[in-house]
Amino acid sequence: MNIAPLHQNDIPDVIALMQLGAPYISPRTPSDYWLYATLFSSTCPLARVGHQLAGAIMAFRSQDTPDDLYLQDVITHPEHRRTGITSALLSHIRDRGRTFGARRLYLTSEPGNSTAHTTWTRLGFTNITGDTTINGISVISHYKGPGKHRAVYEQLL
Ligand SMILES: CC(C)(COP(=O)(O)OP(=O)(O)OC[C@H]1O[C@@H](n2cnc3c(N)ncnc32)[C@H](O)[C@@H]1OP(=O)(O)O)[C@@H](O)C(=O)NCCC(=O)NCCS
Repeated sequence: MNIAPLHQNDIPDVIALMQLGAPYISPRTPSDYWLYATLFSSTCPLARVGHQLAGAIMAFRSQDTPDDLYLQDVITHPEHRRTGITSALLSHIRDRGRTFGARRLYLTSEPGNSTAHTTWTRLGFTNITGDTTINGISVISHYKGPGKHRAVYEQLL
């Protein structure tokens, strides 16, 4: 497995990969990925196995709260799941975060995404206590706006 920062040449492959993430992940626009590749590449690592794009994390350090690094999209190609791709990408992001002084990783997932819940808890994240519990997952109501309830996870660096 090779891990490298997102580059503009990777954008078509990233969009194709994100299309495999339904129902929890969908592609953003080419302009969004241009922005990520141009301003945030060091926290947007891609994992390739041979020439195939096997996984990606799009993450950003907060300008408003510089201690925080937010993981926006995390995906592994269906043919490569449970092979440690997300674990490896996360390790890369932790290293990058520490070098520029971030203190916390955090992310959200949809309350029904039990695979994500298992993954984040297995990889050392804490499910932040919310105001409701759905199938054992603590959820913060309206976290991302009206009706957008989310499970929120954090990991201190
Ligand atoms: C969630 C997702 C990113 C995990 O990626 P991955 O590369 O398969 O994860 P890893 O191989 O690094 O797994 C790490 C650990 O998480 C747990 N885990 C991951 N997938 C699991 C599953 N389907 N069932 C049970 N445990 C699972 C395991 O403990 C695993 O370690 P192990 O295989 O040694 O037991 C992947 O399933 C995915 O892309 N899902 C679709 C998109 C999505 O929902 N993204 C998250 C949005 S918040």
